[in-house]
Amino acid sequence: MEYRRLGSTGLEVSPVCLGTWRFGKETGGVVETARGDAHELLDAYAERGGNFIDTANGYGGGDSERWIGEWLDDRDREDFVVASKCFWSTVSRFQENLSKKNVRAEVEGSLDRLGTDYLDVLYLHRFDDETPVEHTLRAVDDLVSDGKVHYVGISTCEAWKLAKGLWKADVNNYEAFSVTQPLFHAAYYEDVAEYLDVCADQDIAVCPYSPLAGGFLTGKYERVGDGTYDIDAPADTRADFDEMFTDWYVSERGWHVLDEVRAVADEADATPAQVALRWLMDQPDFDCVPIVGARTVDQLDENLDAIGVSITDEQFDRIFEARYDEDGDLYETNA
Ligand SMILES: NC(=O)c1ccc[n+]([C@@H]2O[C@H](COP(=O)([O-])OP(=O)(O)OC[C@H]3O[C@@H](n4cnc5c(N)ncnc54)[C@H](OP(=O)(O)O)[C@@H]3O)[C@@H](O)[C@H]2O)c1
Repeated sequence: MEYRRLGSTGLEVSPVCLGTWRFGKETGGVVETARGDAHELLDAYAERGGNFIDTANGYGGGDSERWIGEWLDDRDREDFVVASKCFWSTVSRFQENLSKKNVRAEVEGSLDRLGTDYLDVLYLHRFDDETPVEHTLRAVDDLVSDGKVHYVGISTCEAWKLAKGLWKADVNNYEAFSVTQPLFHAAYYEDVAEYLDVCADQDIAVCPYSPLAGGFLTGKYERVGDGTYDIDAPADTRADFDEMFTDWYVSERGWHVLDEVRAVADEADATPAQVALRWLMDQPDFDCVPIVGARTVDQLDENLDAIGVSITDEQFDRIFEARYDEDGDLYETNA
């Protein structure tokens, strides 16, 4: 496996990060990834050379971090780059909160569950509009000084909030965001375009979440008739049991992008999932390390094989342009 630098952090990471959101998560009565399956996925990822693991304080009610911690116990912690997040509280009655008190409590909880002394990356999972961002950054800066957090990141927020956080860190001499985690995939670009411009300008690494649109871009779903939202979902897939799937991932724009992803996959002798991931890894303006989810080792293997897939600039552009109709208007999206 060839490793790449994560923006300006100096961390060397595999080109694909392993997401663990669904570890221990129960959706519609289905536990998506149970403890044994989680450990199998981590084993398979590490055997292929993967070293970048993404979790959060609340994933699976804490089970994601606990299971990663158990697994890391038998390994050299230094070999892995572990990212976690705070915003939604696991300990306080104030549920969405980036106060100094909550940030510290949540990070201590994550370290405890993970059985580690430090997080390589701490993301602010969302922006807290009620707490001045400099208060949050001060708390995070203290954690960096304590050696409990090495780098700071932020997930989804408006571009101006990302820029405001960078400015407040700069003027106060606090540790600034060096990694971001937006929702970003081939069919979801407009809403995040300005945010990505800030990342490119400020040399901030981008780790897109849901890079396969929850599995939509793998090509395993089909339209029913001419409609947009009626889909044929194989049994036991996310669309089959997660009632948010259509709202989040299915749109006219998505179907058109998927058509082009499929066409490029045929030409490149690859699968649609691999092409969708390669398209992200090939972003020209910033370091881009997609965070893939996988429920089976086969899915994970297929996704990791994207690292060896190549697409041409022309194919890259075709996927980007597939969001527009013949009149140059964007197809509708509901995301
Ligand atoms: N910061 C945030 O707010 C935020 C939000 C969401 C996610 N995340 C992070 O991003 C990670 C990835 O998110 P995600 O799970 O939505 O990512 P995704 O890669 O877009 O979707 C993963 C799902 O797609 C299906 N899939 C994956 N590879 C496949 C393949 N090769 N063939 C067929 N189906 C395949 C599986 O679902 P089924 O088999 O069940 O259909 C899998 O659970 C999360 O684990 C988490 O770490 C962060």
